[in-house]
Amino acid sequence: MHISLVVGDYLKHLCPVLVAGCFEEEGEPEWISRLDRAMEGRLLPLCRQQDFAGKLDTTKMVHTLGRLPAERILLVGLGKRKDFTAERLRRASGTMVQVLKKSRIERGSCLLHLAAGDAPAMIRAVAEGTLLGSYEFSHYKTDAGEESAVTELTFLCPDKKGRTNVESYVAEAVCVCDAVSFARDLVSQPGNVATPDYLAEKGLEMAAGFGITCRVLERDELERLGMKALLAVSRGSHQPPRFITLEYRGGEEKGRPIVLVGKGVTFDSGGISLKPRGGMERMKDDMAGAAAVLGTLQAAAALRLPLNLVGLVPAAENLPGGAAYKPGDVVKAMSGKTIEIVNTDAEGRLLLCDALHYAQRYHPAALIDVATLTGACVVALGNGATGLMGNNSGLKRALTMAGEASGERVWELPLWEEYGDLVKSDIADLKNAGGPTAGTISAGWFLQQFVGKTRWAHLDIAGTAWEEKGQPHIPKGATGVGVRLLIEYLRSIC
Ligand code: BES
Ligand code: MN
Ligand code: ZN
Repeated sequence: MHISLVVGDYLKHLCPVLVAGCFEEEGEPEWISRLDRAMEGRLLPLCRQQDFAGKLDTTKMVHTLGRLPAERILLVGLGKRKDFTAERLRRASGTMVQVLKKSRIERGSCLLHLAAGDAPAMIRAVAEGTLLGSYEFSHYKTDAGEESAVTELTFLCPDKKGRTNVESYVAEAVCVCDAVSFARDLVSQPGNVATPDYLAEKGLEMAAGFGITCRVLERDELERLGMKALLAVSRGSHQPPRFITLEYRGGEEKGRPIVLVGKGVTFDSGGISLKPRGGMERMKDDMAGAAAVLGTLQAAAALRLPLNLVGLVPAAENLPGGAAYKPGDVVKAMSGKTIEIVNTDAEGRLLLCDALHYAQRYHPAALIDVATLTGACVVALGNGATGLMGNNSGLKRALTMAGEASGERVWELPLWEEYGDLVKSDIADLKNAGGPTAGTISAGWFLQQFVGKTRWAHLDIAGTAWEEKGQPHIPKGATGVGVRLLIEYLRSIC
C-alpha cells in the first residue's frame, strides 16, 4: 500500500471515502461537526446509533449522496477518550483498512490522525496500523484475481506545516513496517523454502540493499569455532546449518554495539524427541526470532539510527535422522561448558548458547536474544505478551517501556538462583531441559550461563510470533513481533 499526503480542506476533497475517527460518549470534535453541517445534520444521529456510538472496533459507513465531493464517509470508533492510546489508534487504523478491503474500496482518504493532535507517536500509530493491517501473504495463491486490496491511502492535512510534520512521521512508519513485512514474509514461508541457507541468502540480499555488512559462516567454520551445540542440532537434517552475522555502523567508530541474537530453527520437528503430529506445521515459525533480528537491522539502517548494531542468527533445522543427536548425548558448547541432552526438542537454547557466547567478542553494550523458545511461555502469557528475562534491571525496564510504546508488550519472569536446580545434570555441567515446571524460566536460566557479565535480556516470543485469530492491525499468521519492540528500544537509547 502506498501512503500519500494532500494539503487541503477535506470538505472539498474528492475521493471514494473519507475516514474520520469518533470517540465514544463525547461531544463532537470539530472535524465531525464540520462534516455534519455539510451533511445537513444527518451525520451526528448516525454516530450515536447503538451499533456504533464510537466504540472501539466498530465502524459506520455513510453515503454522502452528493452533499460532499467525497462519495462516502467511514466513521471509525476510537473508544472512550480517557482510554485512548497509540495502540488503540493502531487498532482503529487497522479496522479502517479491513473495512475498506471488505467493501472493495481501493483508495481511501484519512482524517484519523486529527483525533490525536500533533503527537508524533499518534501520527506514527495511524500509519503503522494502516500498513500493518494491510499485510497479506499471498505468495502461493495462484489465483489472486478475487482478492481485493487497499492500494492507496491519502492523509489529509489542513495546512503545509501539518503536512511537513506528518510526512516525516509517516516516512518513519514506512521504514519500520517494511521491515515488519520482511520479517512476516520470512516466517510465513514454508520450511521447504525457508531453510538455513535461504535465511542466509535473504540476510545477504537485505544487507546489500541497506549498507549493512553481512557474513555467513558455514559448517567447516562453525566446527573450527567449536560451536558443537549448534552443530548437534543440525545433524539430523540434510540442510546444512548457517550462522549469519550482520553489522550496521551508524554510531561512533569505537562505540560498543547492541548485539541482537535470533533463534533460526527453520523447522522444529522435535528431533528424536519427536513432537506430536497435531499442529506441527506451525513449527515453520521457529525462526521468528531470526526474522525479528533481520527485520530490526533493516529498519535501524533505513532509519539511520545513530548507533552500532550487530545481528547474529544461528540457523538450523531440527529433524530426526540417522545422524541426529540423541537424548543422553553430551555435547561441549563453544564456551567449554558441557551439556547433557535430555530432550532433543529443547534445541533452541543449544543454538542460542553458542551464539550468545560468540556475541561476547563484540563487547556488547547490551545483548538481547529473541526466540520462540518454550511452549510453557504460551501457557503462561498466551499471545498477550512476550516473556522477558535478564540480568540487568535498567535493560529490562527499557524493554518494558518500549513494549508499552510499541504495543508489543513484554512481561517479566524471574531468574532467581534457586531455579538453577532445574537444569543441573548428573554427568555434565548442565542439561538442556528441566522438568515439567517453570519451563520458560529454566530455558532462560540455561541461556544466562552463557552471557558472562554482559548486560543481557532474553525475549521468549513463542506466544506472540503467530496470530491465531487475526486482529485489525495484526492479520492472521506471522506477526513480525520484535521488530517494532526492538526499534522502539533502540530509539529510546539513541
Ligand atoms: N520451538 C519450541 C517452542 C514452541 C512451542 C514455540 C510451541 C511455539 C509454540 C521449542 O523448541 C520447544 O520445543 N520447546 C520445548 C522445550 C521442552 C522440551 C523443555 C517445549 O516447550 O515443549
Ligand atoms: Mn523444540
Ligand atoms: Zn524450537
